[in-house]
Amino acid sequence: MPLMGLRESALKLILFGGKGGVGKTTCAASAGISLAEDFKTLLLSTDPAHSISDSLEQPIGDAATEVKDARNLSALEIDAEKALARFKAEYEEEIKKILDTSTNLDQEDIESVFSLSIPGLDEVMGFKTIMDIMDHGEYGKYIVDTAPTGHALRLLTMPRLLDDWVKMLAKLRWKYRYMIKTFSGKYAPDEADDFLLNMKKTVKKIEELLKDQSRCEFIAVTIPEDMAVQETSRLIQSLGEYGVKVKQLVINNVLEPRDCGFCRERHKEQEKYISRIRNRFGNLRTTIAFLQPLEVKGMNALSAFALQLMHGDPVNRMAV
Ligand SMILES: Nc1ncnc2c1ncn2[C@@H]1O[C@H](COP(=O)(O)OP(=O)(O)OP(=O)(O)O)[C@@H](O)[C@H]1O
Ligand SMILES: [Mg+2]
Repeated sequence: MPLMGLRESALKLILFGGKGGVGKTTCAASAGISLAEDFKTLLLSTDPAHSISDSLEQPIGDAATEVKDARNLSALEIDAEKALARFKAEYEEEIKKILDTSTNLDQEDIESVFSLSIPGLDEVMGFKTIMDIMDHGEYGKYIVDTAPTGHALRLLTMPRLLDDWVKMLAKLRWKYRYMIKTFSGKYAPDEADDFLLNMKKTVKKIEELLKDQSRCEFIAVTIPEDMAVQETSRLIQSLGEYGVKVKQLVINNVLEPRDCGFCRERHKEQEKYISRIRNRFGNLRTTIAFLQPLEVKGMNALSAFALQLMHGDPVNRMAV
């Protein structure tokens, strides 16, 4: 059964996630190539170890680059650290103003607080970059190749992280406002307040998008092996706790039964895990992607892989 519903025009953001090495980049790139036949598509990576360029076998950078040999497909490897630096540079004045007016910190302390690295904030900015790009509405589909599980989860839990951060600043600001109001009787909001309000709106927007099943879908990718199945379980559960419902799962690297002792044994072992996956995630649609004799890299191999992933094309079953 191929992946379903990805061509619904309301569905804008499609994320592929799972354990390390299970085929997330391969699936994201293939889906991107396939969807670009009908939609202007942007393939994005939030994985700090970017591999879209390796997978497509062409250079992609941190600016949207048109993919060669695929009309309507562009790709972008988000540099989260750079995004954070840009954000800080853009809002330096506002953040420092909040710290300056609301705390007893002197200039030197403010500088050191400002340059503190807040864990997870770079990923937050990575996601904010996706939102900013989506706001321009240039593309019909945004396909995200996420980093292995831990990172992907942090990415999705970021609205909460960003919310905490904004709340902390807002609390400081509120004390300041209260003081001004007490002494002067009135308080006129300034650009620092606008900044906090905008950040709050961004958090809400991201949260709403991630939970909106018609606009956003997270597709889990796994392989029929014990550790991968266990990690997939935890991933799907954690996503559920954050209100992100996984509906489809790709089981990659599946061997077809062949007339050789080794293949039969491996196949039997894989069957065990495939049924375990289907039992455990009974409400999930599963898409089988077969193990290919060669690595799935470059436009031709990815397009062929897309046939089975997106169309369930049995012709492509060329497993060893
Ligand atoms: N069905 C398949 N048959 C053969 N090779 C495959 C298949 N799927 C993926 N590969 C190959 O396996 C390797 C790992 O795949 P990929 O990079 O997509 O995994 P990943 O989950 O993105 O890894 P990482 O967690 O490191 O980002 C790649 O070399 C890819 O070409
Ligand atoms: Mg990858």
